[in-house]
Amino acid sequence: MARRLFPLLILAAIAGMAYAQSGFQGFRFTSENEFIRPQEYRRWIFAGSSLGLVYEGEEQADGAERFHNVYINPAAYDAYAKTGEFPAGTVLMLEIMTAREKTSILNGGRYEDQLVGLAAAVKAPDRFKEKWAYFSFTDPGKPFLEKAAANKPEECWTCHKQHGADDNVFVQFYPTLRDARGKGN
Ligand code: HEC
Repeated sequence: MARRLFPLLILAAIAGMAYAQSGFQGFRFTSENEFIRPQEYRRWIFAGSSLGLVYEGEEQADGAERFHNVYINPAAYDAYAKTGEFPAGTVLMLEIMTAREKTSILNGGRYEDQLVGLAAAVKAPDRFKEKWAYFSFTDPGKPFLEKAAANKPEECWTCHKQHGADDNVFVQFYPTLRDARGKGN
């Protein structure tokens, strides 16, 4: 019996390794199609950051500029670098940070202070007919949500579809993706 099990165990171990290497980190849904907030996104590939972008039709409530940081899961980055296309399983995390200035030794400039917003763009054609779905984990004044239902397409998808430079993604603002696209590294 043990002899028969052994090859199976090896196979299982190899399959496990293959999953870890080619699997799409952070791509996890509940049975209700809610997206589970990836905890580990800061270990992913950093796509780019911006300061003070205000979208068309949006007003910054307090007028304060925010930093936006965007991360992409590594397997999706690799595929994008190789093929120039975002594969199913792509997750892009957007974090919104307050900007702070004039503290301690600083005479000028601003740095990222508090994390105040968190959202995800997820490519999942098997689950969503629009292919990309958008999720917000921000619940003002409370801890970030552990999971979120997809926003309605007109709340997020439409603007991304119309203005994102490549396949709904705002690649025009992300130097890491701009430079890597289809170049293999
Ligand atoms: C009016 C246009 C507009 C709308 C509506 C919009 N976004 Fe975006 N989104 C942007 C722009 C511009 C960027 C890129 C720059 C940035 O914010 O850093 C972006 C970037 C993102 C990113 C980073 C990955 C990517 O696709 O570029 C995520 C995640 C994201 N938005 C989530 C959302 C969610 C969730 C909603 C709806 C609740 C939403 N967005 C609605 C314009 C929009």
